[in-house]
Amino acid sequence: MTDFPTLSWPEADGPHSARWRSEAAVPPAKRVVIADDRTTADAAYRLACEGTALLWRGDFQNARQLLQAMTRRLERKPRKQAASPLDAFNLHRQAQAQRARTLGMLLIPLEGDYTIPLRRAPSVQEACEEVYGPPTHEPSIVSLRELLGLIGAHEWRKKGVEIPALQERIHPHYGVFSPVRGEYVDLVARTPLPSLEKAFDIGVGTGVLSAVLAKRGVKRIVATDQDPRALACAKENLTRLGYERQVEIIAADLFPEGRAPLVVCNPPWVPARPASPIENAVYDYENRMLLGFLNGLADHLEPGGEGWLILSDFAEHLGMRARDWLLAAIDNAGLTVAGREDIKPRHPKATDATDPLHTARVAEVTSLWRLKAK
Ligand SMILES: C[S@@+](CC[C@H](N)C(=O)[O-])C[C@H]1O[C@@H](n2cnc3c(N)ncnc32)[C@H](O)[C@@H]1O
Repeated sequence: MTDFPTLSWPEADGPHSARWRSEAAVPPAKRVVIADDRTTADAAYRLACEGTALLWRGDFQNARQLLQAMTRRLERKPRKQAASPLDAFNLHRQAQAQRARTLGMLLIPLEGDYTIPLRRAPSVQEACEEVYGPPTHEPSIVSLRELLGLIGAHEWRKKGVEIPALQERIHPHYGVFSPVRGEYVDLVARTPLPSLEKAFDIGVGTGVLSAVLAKRGVKRIVATDQDPRALACAKENLTRLGYERQVEIIAADLFPEGRAPLVVCNPPWVPARPASPIENAVYDYENRMLLGFLNGLADHLEPGGEGWLILSDFAEHLGMRARDWLLAAIDNAGLTVAGREDIKPRHPKATDATDPLHTARVAEVTSLWRLKAK
């Protein structure tokens, strides 16, 4: 018995199979054909659209080019007209899912030590170890699209993201929410602190907000997350920045034990169902984390303490969450709004008129809600 999925495919000498890897938890394809440098982009695209995977045996760089050619074919398909911002969002997600399905059909073999047994293949051992863990010494199969994602994540992890409020870089790990759109970090850096004694950081991610609080002089911070990758990533960043004695990082669902005069939370901001585990930092299905934070906050605040909820109103512009609903949720949780700091996104997508969600993006404001117990 194996505890991982396997992919099976036919060869001249009979059926073969190997471990299937998919961080997005995509099941292995049922139909697989062998493809190589002779496979045309039209044929590959047609097979992929039909749900047949192509196990690549040719030159690695040619596989990359084939994937680009398949992407161009996908992008040529006319977009459906959306009747409303919500419709645009749903169509966008459908298109993303279809894109992931089709482009995920081009497969690459990996040896047990994460080398790629193909001509002109790059070395991906470090990138694979960071995501898959130490080599397990059995060959496996992965989609080229996932593999390129791993390579990109490895580069970001090495390079890091500049955080002006810290005058330092934060190095995100694969699958951990990255503070590339960093305006919300500025809100945490500039809002007057209710106390320097202690803070909780709920959903620590890369550790960026804990680092900002530590830099601002908060003496003790307890940070939580449920995702083992976020916990490891935050630990690494906070240690590198020299805050490991100030910040304790623990695995917990929402709050740690006890109370603090400041509790900070930047939950995922779109209340839709995540399509894969790596979307958990963006999509908060049925507002679970948002409501969990609001409903538990009063019991974790010291008298006079503040909860800082960082939330974009993007979902409101999509018609997925109403402002009145949020205000009622705050009130029902026994909280009042003591103040609010707003900031407009600066990322380039916010001004890209060709983006299908442009109308919602131009209107988007991210707020830091200062909440107190009634
Ligand atoms: C939008 S990210 C924010 C990360 C980081 N605080 C930041 O501002 O960059 C939300 C984080 O909350 C974490 N999370 C989701 N549900 C959680 C829960 N129930 N308890 C603790 N953390 C949770 C996710 O793993 C993710 O790291």
